[in-house]
Amino acid sequence: MKVAIIGSGGREHALALKIAESKILSKLYAIPGNPGIKNLAENYEINISNHSVLIQFCSEKEIDLVVIGPEKPLTEGLTDSLRNAGFVVFGPSKSAARIEGEKSFAKKLMFENNIPTASFHIYLKEDYEEAIKYLRKTKYPIVIKANGIASGKGVIIADTFDDAKEAVKECFINSSFGSAGDKIVIEECMTGQEASIFAVTDGTDFVLLPAAQDHKRIHDGDLGKNTGGMGAYAPTPFVDKNELQFVSEKIIKPTLQAMKKNGFEFVGCLYCGIMLTPEGPKVVEFNCRFGDPETQVVLPLLKGDFLKLLYSAAIGKLDLDSVQISEGTAVCVVLASKNYPDSSEKGIVINGLENFPSGTSHIIHSGTKEVNGKIVTDGGRVLGVVASIEQNDLRKCKEIAYEAISKIYFDGMQFRKDISDKGILAKS
Ligand code: AMP
Ligand code: GLY
Repeated sequence: MKVAIIGSGGREHALALKIAESKILSKLYAIPGNPGIKNLAENYEINISNHSVLIQFCSEKEIDLVVIGPEKPLTEGLTDSLRNAGFVVFGPSKSAARIEGEKSFAKKLMFENNIPTASFHIYLKEDYEEAIKYLRKTKYPIVIKANGIASGKGVIIADTFDDAKEAVKECFINSSFGSAGDKIVIEECMTGQEASIFAVTDGTDFVLLPAAQDHKRIHDGDLGKNTGGMGAYAPTPFVDKNELQFVSEKIIKPTLQAMKKNGFEFVGCLYCGIMLTPEGPKVVEFNCRFGDPETQVVLPLLKGDFLKLLYSAAIGKLDLDSVQISEGTAVCVVLASKNYPDSSEKGIVINGLENFPSGTSHIIHSGTKEVNGKIVTDGGRVLGVVASIEQNDLRKCKEIAYEAISKIYFDGMQFRKDISDKGILAKS
């Protein structure tokens, strides 16, 4: 089978690694890919917003399956364009991708189908005064979210009325999030541990992958600014069998059923971000794709043929037996460049990649580039160091990951030292 992966980040490198293990794979392409993926696939520099050029590429290479990694091409309708041209695609249509692209759409769907989530109100730009009136009388803290995709920056947790008013102004008056902030969701602030759960689905049936825990803040102890994710581990002990069953029955199943019934069947990976509140698991957000860096720790825990799983989902006949979940553990620590998340330093040479230990740990490329035969930084999140072991021993897995990091160095490199500690503490 000839497969093309769309995307260039750590998630796509992790997908490529797992797909490359498949017995049914004959050729792997990546568009545009990255220097890490280059060892597994043929990379092609094609602008992924140009659907007709992509279709032409897929025709020339006789691609059997396209796997779309990031949310942007999904929300822009790349799946629809490729499907209309006759290709098999793993990834939701534009209308189904609204579950991530429009928070108000996801919240309404949850409300109408009794899916547990924070209580909420939706306001349009012209409702500015009404939003402020509501904020005067509500309880604090409260959460204010831009409706559209705002590169992870569109969520503000306001402790006071003044902070909340400022946040609404940022969206409606200063247009800080562009059109993504023309509509806002104001929602109840939940408390509890967070987890990310992926459901690979053909629109009806689904396979739940092990629950992971991301670390979104830049500094240890979950302090500092929000980032795209500074590390993850799986499985997380915060989600036990009962909670996973609850998520499956009360969240994923009714969400997929409602989407199908409403005419926008979801095919691909439904990412469910949950908070384990005192009242039980509630949805924080849905994403229309695999998470990054969670994919880097979830995929090493799968045995079997991951490509078979993706292909069977994409053709609408999910093969529930294609993968099995191992008893193992995985930890991924992200190495970020100086000043991330405010900015990123590009072109800094990365040392130590050639001496990196193989076996229980491996490197994932997220924001790198090859220049004159050297690998240099090319983004905020530069590399992921992943350790994965067959035992259920998070402490040992963390040690292996950090030992491996000591082999890598680039100027300005920053990383968290406490990835997986919450899970280790919960277990001891
Ligand atoms: P989101 O972009 O929706 O994933 O939100 C980013 C982060 O903001 C989440 O991972 C949570 O840590 C936090 N967050 C979002 N919504 C809520 C909420 N209703 N209550 C508490 N924290 C939230
Ligand atoms: N790690 C968070 C995300 O992928 O959205």
